[in-house]
Amino acid sequence: MTATAPQPAPHTGRARISKRSLRTDHWWIGPTLTVLGLTAFLVYGLARVLQQDHYWVAEYHYLTPFYSPCLSADCAPGSAVFGTLPWEFPWFLPYAVVSLPLLLAFRFTCYYYRKAYYRSFWQAPTACAVPEPHRSYTGEARLPLILQNSHRYFFYVALAITLLNTYDAALALGYGLGGGHGLGLGNLVMLTNVVLLWCYTLSCHSCRHVFGGRLRSFGNRPIRYWMWTQISRLNTRHMEFAWITLGTLMLTDAYVLLVASETIADPRLFATSG
Ligand code: FES
Repeated sequence: MTATAPQPAPHTGRARISKRSLRTDHWWIGPTLTVLGLTAFLVYGLARVLQQDHYWVAEYHYLTPFYSPCLSADCAPGSAVFGTLPWEFPWFLPYAVVSLPLLLAFRFTCYYYRKAYYRSFWQAPTACAVPEPHRSYTGEARLPLILQNSHRYFFYVALAITLLNTYDAALALGYGLGGGHGLGLGNLVMLTNVVLLWCYTLSCHSCRHVFGGRLRSFGNRPIRYWMWTQISRLNTRHMEFAWITLGTLMLTDAYVLLVASETIADPRLFATSG
């Protein structure tokens, strides 16, 4: 009688493990914090956009990024730097009706945020070695997720909107320094926000591709190589900038809200004679 060699078990998909996962670390903390962080930003942003008040401090020329550019006919005097459309907007339409949806689309299609919300909200998968609840996986190869590839185009839009936020911060700075108000804490808050927004925008993977993609060699392109190197450095911290700028956007908006509603006064760091 000959011994039968053990045969490998037929492949039937995932291993049959009774537990949800054999991981013993706190793998659920990351996805949970992601859900809390993104939900907090969306709820706060929605509440502020619908409030349609306390977005502009005329005395110091502070405009919150959530309302820039202000385009409704009933924007506060002075806040519509680029002029307004001829209509007053209904309560549900953001005053920054052009920029906000595009900015949300840029973040929604961002490579980092995709990973974050696929894991935390959609649980595909929730974490490494943790089974997902879905039966099949189709990736981003067909509708609707194939639309995520539009991120490279939203990058150019985001560049323009970051320029816009920079312009708002520079206007407020010039207004304070030239108008005799000096420099206020609000100026620093707005400037910090735009510096970090630039870090987030320039660290985008699409931006890195713009400077370093489709090239066989950097040999005779030293400037492009230098820029690609700097962007690559920023790119390693893209996730951090993604979270930090959610925080600075909310912080800047909350600061303008508090000053505009006269809940706090804007501390003057120094005054000029104007
Ligand atoms: Fe995140 Fe482009 S990859 S903004």
